[in-house]
Amino acid sequence: MAVIQVSAGGGKGYDVTVERGSLNRCGELLAPLFPGSKIAVITDTNVARVYLEDVQSSLEQAGFETCSYAFAAGEKSKNLSTLSNILEFLADSGLTRTDAIVALGGGVVGDIAGFAAGCYLRGIKYAQIPTTLLAFVDSAVGGKTAVDLRAGKNLAGLFNPPSAVVADPGCLDTLSDEILSDGAAEAVKTGILDGEVLFSLVEKGEIRQNAEKIIELCILYKAKIVGMDEFERGLRKLLNLGHTVGHAIEKLSGYKIPHGQSVAMGIGVITRAAVRLGMCPHSDCARIISALSACGLPTETFYGASELAGASLADKKRSGSTITLVMPRAIGNCELLDIPVSDLQGIIEKGLCPMEE
Ligand SMILES: NC(=O)c1ccc[n+]([C@@H]2O[C@H](COP(=O)([O-])OP(=O)(O)OC[C@H]3O[C@@H](n4cnc5c(N)ncnc54)[C@H](O)[C@@H]3O)[C@@H](O)[C@H]2O)c1
Ligand SMILES: [Zn+2]
Repeated sequence: MAVIQVSAGGGKGYDVTVERGSLNRCGELLAPLFPGSKIAVITDTNVARVYLEDVQSSLEQAGFETCSYAFAAGEKSKNLSTLSNILEFLADSGLTRTDAIVALGGGVVGDIAGFAAGCYLRGIKYAQIPTTLLAFVDSAVGGKTAVDLRAGKNLAGLFNPPSAVVADPGCLDTLSDEILSDGAAEAVKTGILDGEVLFSLVEKGEIRQNAEKIIELCILYKAKIVGMDEFERGLRKLLNLGHTVGHAIEKLSGYKIPHGQSVAMGIGVITRAAVRLGMCPHSDCARIISALSACGLPTETFYGASELAGASLADKKRSGSTITLVMPRAIGNCELLDIPVSDLQGIIEKGLCPMEE
């Protein structure tokens, strides 16, 4: 078992418990944090089938009254209409300011339930119980919450840290290989940022075998970065490695290509571009591409540079006439590069053709 502390502004630090079996004792773990009597568990229809009963029964054994709301699984639900339904549900269930929310599920549930917690009654407490690899290694920690707008991903949201994260790696047992792969993209991303120890754990694609250690190291890295730059004024932007192009791919596909696969392609594009710009050795690029492939992820996209650049420029990471790219210089060394918007298409172009071996 590992307990990782994440610091957040205004004394809102929280613990992330990584332990097999912790989902079944979430009530005990959350009881000291939530003084109210009622907890609304927000989840999606798939996760509800597998875990809702266990979570509600653990919460009830710890003395909480519970209610639950499950929306249709999938990124398409991460919108204002689902948010509105959740808020109406919370009000209909009579949740007060001392009551709390539990977000039970993957990144979609965590993002939308965290947003609902941040705006219901001007903010009530919430906890994350992640159930996908992506949520373990990335979205459950750091307090970013959001929904998508028609214009793009995550365009409405809040920085809203949870009061606790209960991470039970046992949840990966019920996850399909395909969804596990999606999460592996964020784990490889963190490995590229953090360095050799984590990267070598994900490099061979043996994610299930090394899950607990990978989850722990990814959360430790994210906790370190978020602790230094909670509101993404600088350093935290590093976590967007692969995401400028990744978000563009997600959007161009009408969200049919999942987040993780899109990010993997985004990492592929930006890493090849970094090699062609003389910023990254070919050997590091080859290891990155092969790690993504070993995790069952695509590293090339059929979209063209002009459509990718066009879709990226609607991305919120753009500030005025410049855009910040995360460029890999080596495994364990990435840097932020501010470029004029007009250079983006050319840089993406460099990353589109496969490397000659
Ligand atoms: N807030 C952040 O910092 C942050 C970081 C990275 C990604 N994200 C967001 O996360 C989202 C993607 O998250 P995701 O990949 O977890 O998607 P998801 O939440 O849609 O989960 C993927 C699928 O797996 C199912 N599922 C979840 N847990 C399961 C389990 N244990 N067993 C069986 N099925 C299970 C879900 O029902 C869903 O169908 C995107 O919207 C992305 O923008 C947010
Ligand atoms: Zn991501």
